[in-house]
Amino acid sequence: MNPEFLRQCLLYFRDLGLRDLYDRTRPLASVSGVRTPEVQLATDPLPSSSAAPVAQVSIFDELLAAPDPTEDSLEKIRQDIGDCRRCRLHESRTRIVFGDGNPQARIVFVGEGPGAEEDAQGLPFVGRAGQLLTAMIENTAQREGIPLKRADVYICNVVKCRPPENRTPRPDEIETCSPFLFRQLRVIRPKVIVALGATAARALLGAREGVTKLRGKWYRWENIPVMVTYHPSFLLRPTGQAAKREAWEDLKKVFHYAYD
Ligand code: URA
Repeated sequence: MNPEFLRQCLLYFRDLGLRDLYDRTRPLASVSGVRTPEVQLATDPLPSSSAAPVAQVSIFDELLAAPDPTEDSLEKIRQDIGDCRRCRLHESRTRIVFGDGNPQARIVFVGEGPGAEEDAQGLPFVGRAGQLLTAMIENTAQREGIPLKRADVYICNVVKCRPPENRTPRPDEIETCSPFLFRQLRVIRPKVIVALGATAARALLGAREGVTKLRGKWYRWENIPVMVTYHPSFLLRPTGQAAKREAWEDLKKVFHYAYD
């Protein structure tokens, strides 16, 4: 649909006093103060259209406020983030870690938030977890005969500033920062999104389940297929060793979907 036409419709509905509009294709953690009910996650494989998870999330104000994706760009999003002080994470960060990689990537990996090394360098996934992620991407692709390097994908996080002591980002921090992630995803519009770990799965899908339950299946975010898999930091822990094989299986599915 023509975005300007959609905008005019929304303004018309708003003038009529309509306040709630629900997106049945895009479950979110929540949108500006609107509490999100439990999301029903799809378990059937793509490309079935019934795979779309359903969330009753009011998106009225957000739709009106969101830039038209055809006029948005990664540069503009970075500019809008600016020297961000919208949440407490700015107090302890060194650098904002926006994202890195191919702006036309077929695959976007979404992590949780920068760690110490990322905070120092201003780049996502460059520490130990990042090295493992790079190896997972490049080795899996090579074994599957897919010519894919880390530089071919796009990598970013739910929150752009390092949480102190690498703690899990809090709901209000995710709420504040995730609109920038959503804009990045709308601009890149990859063929597949990979949610690395529970925070990314929750921000994108509203999912409250753990990764063990969510992984290996397809979901959707704004109609883009999403695969949930283990966060590389978990795979580095002694308790995560057994999960490596499953993560490799998940990536194989993603790469074949994106490149076959
Ligand atoms: N962990 C993340 O979630 N993101 C990074 O960028 C690095 C580690």
